[in-house]
Amino acid sequence: MKVSTIAIDGPAASGKSTIGERLARRLGYLYFDTGVMYRAVTWAALQRGIPIEDEEAVTALARSLHIDVVPPTVDDGRQYTVFTDGEDVTWAIRRPEVDANVSVVSAYRGVREELVRQQRRIAAGGRIVMVGRDIGSVVLPDADLKIYLDATVEERARRRWKERRERGEDVDYEEVLRRMRRRDQIDSSREVSPLLVPDGATVIDTTNLSIQEVMERVERLVDEQDPPEVSPVQTIADG
Ligand code: DC
Repeated sequence: MKVSTIAIDGPAASGKSTIGERLARRLGYLYFDTGVMYRAVTWAALQRGIPIEDEEAVTALARSLHIDVVPPTVDDGRQYTVFTDGEDVTWAIRRPEVDANVSVVSAYRGVREELVRQQRRIAAGGRIVMVGRDIGSVVLPDADLKIYLDATVEERARRRWKERRERGEDVDYEEVLRRMRRRDQIDSSREVSPLLVPDGATVIDTTNLSIQEVMERVERLVDEQDPPEVSPVQTIADG
């Protein structure tokens, strides 16, 4: 069977976006990070002064906001460009205010229904690597391949801390760890689509693996689903 839809789930900083992007590039597939959509709604709510606790207003915003994710329009290290109602919000959606509020927004049932509907439409054509928290369980339960990436919370906090330091931010590791624990707790305990290992997913613990090692495992999984064709054995008659 040719692998066409690939779902990658896992907690924050488990390596989903790095691995998802590389795998998509290798296969020539579309890479789509669904976290971007929850972040875009959160940022738009903050910008427009919509209180994050106002579930009804945030849900209405999710339904009306036009989110576009396209190949990078600027060469500044971005994996893609995100527009909301035509405005480039690619870096804005990575701000700490968004990190602090996105778990609340992504727990709203109506917000999820709307974004899941859009995600299914995006994935309908196949040839896609879709990354998130509920892709293998809710968005694409029939995906050809489901991968769940994991790592200890300390290692994931260390990766986030390093990333942010490299971007020139003055960040404290203990603070990053504390926030990571809190986000994990909200993402895993929410009522709607909590973070879990989807049925049929292969779990890869990336705590002690390099990106290259994770890629090798993921590529092996793709190859196992899609073995190269073996030509029938030829018998050579003797004499
Ligand atoms: O992967 P990320 O950090 O960009 O995700 C941002 C938030 O959105 C995070 O709190 C989990 C949530 N999310 C989700 O609930 N479902 C998804 N498919 C993707 C992200």
